[in-house]
Amino acid sequence: MAAQNIYDDPDFLAGYATLNRQVHGLDGAAEWPELKKLLPDLAGKRVADLGCGFGWFSRWAEQQGAASVLGVDVSTKMLERAEAETDSATVSYRCIDLDVLELDADAYDVVFSSLTLHYLLDLDRLMATMAQAVTPGGSLVFSVEHPIFSAPTSQQFETSDDGNRIWPLDNYLVEGKRVTNWFVDGVVKQHRTVATYVNAVIDAGFILDRIVEFGSPASAVGENPEQRDDWHRPWFLLLGATRASD
Ligand SMILES: C[S@@+](CC[C@H](N)C(=O)[O-])C[C@H]1O[C@@H](n2cnc3c(N)ncnc32)[C@H](O)[C@@H]1O
Repeated sequence: MAAQNIYDDPDFLAGYATLNRQVHGLDGAAEWPELKKLLPDLAGKRVADLGCGFGWFSRWAEQQGAASVLGVDVSTKMLERAEAETDSATVSYRCIDLDVLELDADAYDVVFSSLTLHYLLDLDRLMATMAQAVTPGGSLVFSVEHPIFSAPTSQQFETSDDGNRIWPLDNYLVEGKRVTNWFVDGVVKQHRTVATYVNAVIDAGFILDRIVEFGSPASAVGENPEQRDDWHRPWFLLLGATRASD
């Protein structure tokens, strides 16, 4: 089955491009300070950015002194902007569905993916692809929508009669397709449990270093009271792992 590729839908893209993280880049992404802590020093490293979108991370990796950066995405429209905003021979982009991506063995020191793996149909296949592509001792760092965020049939907070905010968690253990309305109707994502993500990483041959259940910190909530909702359910799951030596 082919990827939905919703990012090539003009109405979806027009809305998505207005997000803080797409206007201001990594500095506009609330989880970036935590995600950055999971990364090794990128100087001299061969980096892959899977689901690179507009290429914010790919360009940042180049600025950190990466030897090479490959950004991969299924959306030609995301890649058009990534190409337009990248002025470096160190960074190259490739348009392909991550569900069928092949990568050369031991060709990367760091594989990174931000907020993309929850779109994939076959996580285990990509994990195996990434594991053989990362050199022993190399790093895998990724973020996804937190499974408590992605599980419910209705991904909208409710407010109880006494004013408490309620996240309507259901179907947590029922993995698979979720259809949400986000800028447009019918955006398809794939829900997986925390255990499925963690075990996929371990089974592929990585050593788990750290996971972070990210929600907006109190400092951010001061400026944006609606982010207090994150204290009831985490927003993103962040994970850092190291490829085991053979
Ligand atoms: C939420 S955006 C994140 C973009 C970027 N990583 C960032 O953090 O700004 C998800 C990206 O994943 C891409 N994507 C979704 N499904 C994909 C697939 N099956 N193969 C490759 N890219 C995919 C989308 O086109 C989009 O650019």
